[in-house]
Amino acid sequence: MRSEWWKSAVIYQIYPKSFQDSNGDGIGDLQGIRQRLPYLQNLGVDALWLSPVYQSPQIDNGYDISDYYQIDPMFGTSEDMNALIADTHARGMKIIMDFVANHTSDQYSWFQESRKSLDNPYSDFYIWRDPRPDGSAPNNWGSSFGGSAWTYEPARQQYYLHYYAKEQPDLNWENPRVRDAIYEVMKYWKSRGVDGWRLDVITSISKDWCFPDNPRPLTKENQHNGPRMHEFIHDLNQHVLTLYDMMSVGEAPASNAADAPLLVDPTREELDMVFTFQHMHIDRKPGDLNGRWALQKPDFIELKRIMADWQIQLSGRGWNALYFENHDRARVISRWGNDSKYRYECATAFATILHGMQGTPYVYQGEEIGMTNPQFALADYEDVEMIGNYHQFVEQQKTISSADFLAAVHKVGRDNARTPMQWDGSHNAGFSDATPWFKLNPNYTVLNVARDANAEKSVAHYYQQLIRLRHDESILRDGSFELLLPQDKALFAYKRHDDEKTWLVLANLSEKWQNLQGLLADADYRVILSNYQRETIGQQVAPYESFILELS
Ligand code: GLC
Ligand code: CA
Repeated sequence: MRSEWWKSAVIYQIYPKSFQDSNGDGIGDLQGIRQRLPYLQNLGVDALWLSPVYQSPQIDNGYDISDYYQIDPMFGTSEDMNALIADTHARGMKIIMDFVANHTSDQYSWFQESRKSLDNPYSDFYIWRDPRPDGSAPNNWGSSFGGSAWTYEPARQQYYLHYYAKEQPDLNWENPRVRDAIYEVMKYWKSRGVDGWRLDVITSISKDWCFPDNPRPLTKENQHNGPRMHEFIHDLNQHVLTLYDMMSVGEAPASNAADAPLLVDPTREELDMVFTFQHMHIDRKPGDLNGRWALQKPDFIELKRIMADWQIQLSGRGWNALYFENHDRARVISRWGNDSKYRYECATAFATILHGMQGTPYVYQGEEIGMTNPQFALADYEDVEMIGNYHQFVEQQKTISSADFLAAVHKVGRDNARTPMQWDGSHNAGFSDATPWFKLNPNYTVLNVARDANAEKSVAHYYQQLIRLRHDESILRDGSFELLLPQDKALFAYKRHDDEKTWLVLANLSEKWQNLQGLLADADYRVILSNYQRETIGQQVAPYESFILELS
C-alpha cells in the first residue's frame, strides 16, 4: 500500500535561483535553501518542490538539463544536495525534485552524440526528420518560445524537434532505451533520498508520428496528449513511481476535468495529481493568435466553473493539485486582484479559496507574503519565452503592438514570479550581498518576510493558519464539494460536507462590498478563519473579505 501523505499536505515550491544566495554571487543556491529551512518549517509546509538544480546551460533557467546526474555548480555541490535532503528530512519535510523528461539541453552528451550521425548509439534518442523536398521543416509546428519547433542539423542533414527553445531538443520516448535511461535517473535520485517528482510537461512525451500540420502555422495544437501518452506514463509508474513509492505531480497543460481521471485515477497507476492550465486561461481571449499575450478581464464565473468541475469530476476518482502561482505564472493578486490597497485582503482571499478545496495546495515562494508583479521595462526581463514571443508576435507577425505586449507581460509574463525572494528591507532584500542575477521588485523595502511577520495583517500568518487546518481537519481532505452562487461575478463560495459537519468557504473577489444573498440565512455558525479577523459575519462582506465557517 502506498502512503498518501500528500493528501493532507501543503507543498512549497522553491525557484532556487531566486530564493536565497549564500555565497555572494547573486544567484540563489542549495546552501541558501538550507539556511531558510527553519522559515519553511515554521510556515508549516510538508514538502519542498525544487525547480531544477541539475547541470544546465540555463537557457530556460534549468529546464534545459545537460546532465541529470549532476548538480549545477551554480547551485552548489553534490554534498550540498545531500545536506539539503538530510536537513529537510530532519525537519520533517519531504523533497520533491523537478524532472524534465520531455526534453534535455542540446548540451547533453546524448544530444551531442545524436546530432553527429544517423548511426550511433544515441541517433534515435531524439526526434529527427528529413526536410521537406524544398528543404523546409518537416511540418509547421511552432515552439512555445517562438518560431518553428524544428531546427536543422547540417551534420545529419535532418531537423530535430523542440517544443521549446532550439537548445531543448525533445527526447524520443518511442525508443525503449530512452525510457530506461529516464527510469535510471529517477531511481538514482530516489537512492539519494528524494521523495517525489514534479514532472515537467509530462503530457507531451508522446508525439503524433504522422506529424500533421497544424491548422495555423507556428501554433501548438498537436503537442499534448499524444497517442502513447498513457502507456508511457503507466510504464514510468510501474518502473519507478509505484515501485519506490514516490509522489508524482505532472504538468498537464491540455488536461481538463473530464479526461484528467485517466491520468490520476489510482487504479490506472499513472500519476498522483496533475497541474491543469484550464483556470489559468480565464484572462486570455480564446483562440487569439497572440496566445497568452491576448488579455481579457479575468472571468471569475469561468474560474469558479473550472475549479468546481475539477472538484466534482475528480471526487473519488483522483486527487487535485491546487495552485494559482508557480514559476511560470504571475502573482495572482497583481494578475486578477488588487496588489496595492487590498494587498493583504486579496492575497488571503485567493489563498482561502484554494486551500479550502479538496486536493494538495501548492504555495509558490513569495506567495505566502503576497509578493507582487514588478513593472519592469522590456529590456529588464530575462525569460526566454517572453523574448522569443516578442520576436515572433511583435516583430515578425506584427499581430500585437510593443506597448500591448509589454502591458501583457506586466500582467502574465513568467518573470513576474522570478524576482528574488524578499526576505527583509536591507540591501538586496536579504537575498544576496551581490547584485542579484535578476532585478528585485523595488517594493522589497516595504514588502518582505520580516515585515510581514511583524505586521498586524500578516499574509504568512494567515497561511500558517490555513496550513494548520489542512493538517488537522479531515473535512478539507475528504469532504465533498458543492459550489454556491455559480453565476455571481464577485463571490466565490462553496460548501464542504462530511458525515459530521458542513463548512462554508467564501471570498469576495472584488473591491466592493457584496451582499451575501442569503448564503448564511439563519444558520448558526462558528468562525473557523476570517481574514478581517471578525467574530461574526454580517449580511455583507467587505472588499476581498474571506472566511471559513462551520455551519450548524
Ligand atoms: C514547463 C516549465 C517551464 C519550462 C517548460 C519547458 O512548462 O514549467 O518553466 O519553460 O516546461 O521545460
Ligand atoms: Ca550563490
